[in-house]
Amino acid sequence: MPVKNMDELVSLCKRRGFIFPGSDIYGGLQGTYDYGPLGVELKNNLKAAWWRAMVYERDDVEGLDASILTHKLVLRHSGHEATFTDPMVDCRNCQSRWRADHVVNGRCERCGSDDLTEPRPFNMMFKTTIGPIADEDSYGYLRPETAQGIFTNFKNIVDSTSRRLPFGVAQIGKAFRNEITPRNFIFRVREFEQMELEYFVKPGSDEEWHRHWVETRLQWWRDQGLLSDNLQAYNQEPDELAHYAKATVDILYRFPHGLEELEGIANRTDFDLGSHTRNQADYNLTAKVDPNEDSTAKLVIPDPDTNKPIVPYVIEPSAGVDRGVLAVLTEAYTHEELDNGKERVVLKLRPHLAPIKVAILPLARNRPEIVDKAKGIKRELQALGFGRVFYEDTGNIGKGYRRHDEVGTPFCVTVDFDTLGQGDDSALKDTVTIRDRDTMAQERVPISELAEYVRSRLQA
Ligand code: GAP
Repeated sequence: MPVKNMDELVSLCKRRGFIFPGSDIYGGLQGTYDYGPLGVELKNNLKAAWWRAMVYERDDVEGLDASILTHKLVLRHSGHEATFTDPMVDCRNCQSRWRADHVVNGRCERCGSDDLTEPRPFNMMFKTTIGPIADEDSYGYLRPETAQGIFTNFKNIVDSTSRRLPFGVAQIGKAFRNEITPRNFIFRVREFEQMELEYFVKPGSDEEWHRHWVETRLQWWRDQGLLSDNLQAYNQEPDELAHYAKATVDILYRFPHGLEELEGIANRTDFDLGSHTRNQADYNLTAKVDPNEDSTAKLVIPDPDTNKPIVPYVIEPSAGVDRGVLAVLTEAYTHEELDNGKERVVLKLRPHLAPIKVAILPLARNRPEIVDKAKGIKRELQALGFGRVFYEDTGNIGKGYRRHDEVGTPFCVTVDFDTLGQGDDSALKDTVTIRDRDTMAQERVPISELAEYVRSRLQA
């Protein structure tokens, strides 16, 4: 049985240390969440998988880590100051504010009143003072998307890497949006992370590349364990498109609260590089952009066929890390009834995403020989470099198995008296029990073969 509702997931995440409400001890800060000891591992593993697939396993992508604080002119020329808005309504009865397109049946969600104002635009960017003097000109923004840092560094990257079309720049990092109504746990928050690729192509080849990236990204999400039945590609209607997009395909996922956007793959044409370019009239831009005499740059690259400088088109697969974490948790959460009539909750995460790869459980914590052996095994497996190997000496193996099922640990290794050659069967000396999370099968494996056993299964 999959997860029944969001509450079940929220409760597991808090209880087991995946995700906590932000500023919790002061009553929480709406739209913020903190990733706990296991959540940070899961999130890092998801980001590492994305970086591996998008940068290391390709030969046409470079990486970037641009700053979050952004010059106001970047976000003016990108169009965000003017258009990065959601429609907002006020309830005249209880003074609460709502995103107009989230209002159901024209009624306030809090008090039920239908006395709502007309929708008006609300800019979602977080504005902040930069420097010690707070005058009307000393402001900048927390970036609302990581993408702009890629566009403003386009020339730096081309100059320093000698890239030619087509090529991409990948970036993972925080983005901030003052959402009117954050909701559905980590699905819609005010501070989140994005994994974005800006893939620059020759105009005319953009639609083919757009199709390529939709397929590539769908497959990547399947590789993270999401079932095809729970994924859907959705072509945005013209009136849904962002101000920069010619076409956008959303990858939707069946979250506990419904089928909603996990990633957007947009054809941004030459809108952004064109908008940030000085003397735009020198280039044959197809997007309608405002003149820009503030920029010092020409964000151009040679046309691969004519060698003339052109502003390339860009295809942008943009995924939310937090929505990705929510999706893999939703998919992995499994409620099982066992043959013995008992029940268990198990997170069937793909091994590369599991926060803990192997747990080492000594049978007795007050026996130094067992503890030393177990710690030695932990050090050996940790050195394989697959991620966290966890030594846990609570002494209750059954409880340990249940806890590690719930947090998705693929393997538990038990070190006991037989391991030391002190049990009834001397043939079991220098062997351990290894238990598989999904099948619950237990095998006796020689310590000398343990590293290979774990390596082959974690890589599978
Ligand atoms: N650069 C393009 C861009 O930012 P977007 O569709 O607005 O496009 C991309 O955002 C992805 O970022 C979304 O598909 C979603 O996964 C994530 N995202 C956007 N707003 C979010 C929010 N308030 N909370 C969590 N994730 C969000």
